[in-house]
Amino acid sequence: MKIPKHIAIIMDGNGRWAKAKGLARTEGHREGARSVEVITKYANELGVKYLTLYAFSTENWARPKTEILALMTLLEETLDKFLNNPDKDIKVIFSSSRKKLPKKVLTKMEQVEKESAKNKGLILNLAINYGSRQEILEAVLKLQEKGLKPTKANFEKCLYNNLPDPDLIIRTSGEQRLSNFLLWQAAYSEFYFTKTLWPDFREKAFLDAIKDFSARQRRFGA
Ligand code: IPE
Ligand code: IPE
Ligand code: MG
Repeated sequence: MKIPKHIAIIMDGNGRWAKAKGLARTEGHREGARSVEVITKYANELGVKYLTLYAFSTENWARPKTEILALMTLLEETLDKFLNNPDKDIKVIFSSSRKKLPKKVLTKMEQVEKESAKNKGLILNLAINYGSRQEILEAVLKLQEKGLKPTKANFEKCLYNNLPDPDLIIRTSGEQRLSNFLLWQAAYSEFYFTKTLWPDFREKAFLDAIKDFSARQRRFGA
């Protein structure tokens, strides 16, 4: 089986998972956070080098205040887990617009980044307050400020992180769209859509996606 070097996931369907069980949306987010832990650990075991997880989009600020608050609290709790019980393997980085995020969350993000910086295993890239259009606009500004020539290499140095492009992009919950995720980086990514809702997306579902990817032939236009 070919293991993709970089997998990116649009973690969708927490709300529908909760609704189907007669629970509050927050409960879906809580179970979704559990999937984050399971999939991160498993991806590292499988030898995936980069895992990018779309956790909160720049458009998600349009949700009800109570849901945003619950998501931010959950985020803090997840970051606390990394801090209190650090995985010696996983290096955490962020693809985030620093605007709008609560100070408390930003401080924790910086702490996690710093404390895991030397780890040599999986690089977990958390896209929190991420929007690809915003990222591209910010990169254009940086390019200009630095007086760099607008080449592909220079432009990519100005993105939030300069990782290899995702080989495989997974979206759960049956929706088939990018929702402002990695518009630049997805130019030659393989897409995998599954009806499985994110809180139900565990080892077997992840392996199925990788198996599907394994059987594909990539041509990159050649
Ligand atoms: C994904 O689940 C989590 C975030 C976008 C923060 P949703 O909250 O979008 O769940 P659905 O799509 O309403 O089911
Ligand atoms: C995309 O899911 C964003 C994240 C998974 C963080 P949404 O649920 O926000 O996307 P739409 O609104 O269905 O396109
Ligand atoms: Mg959704």
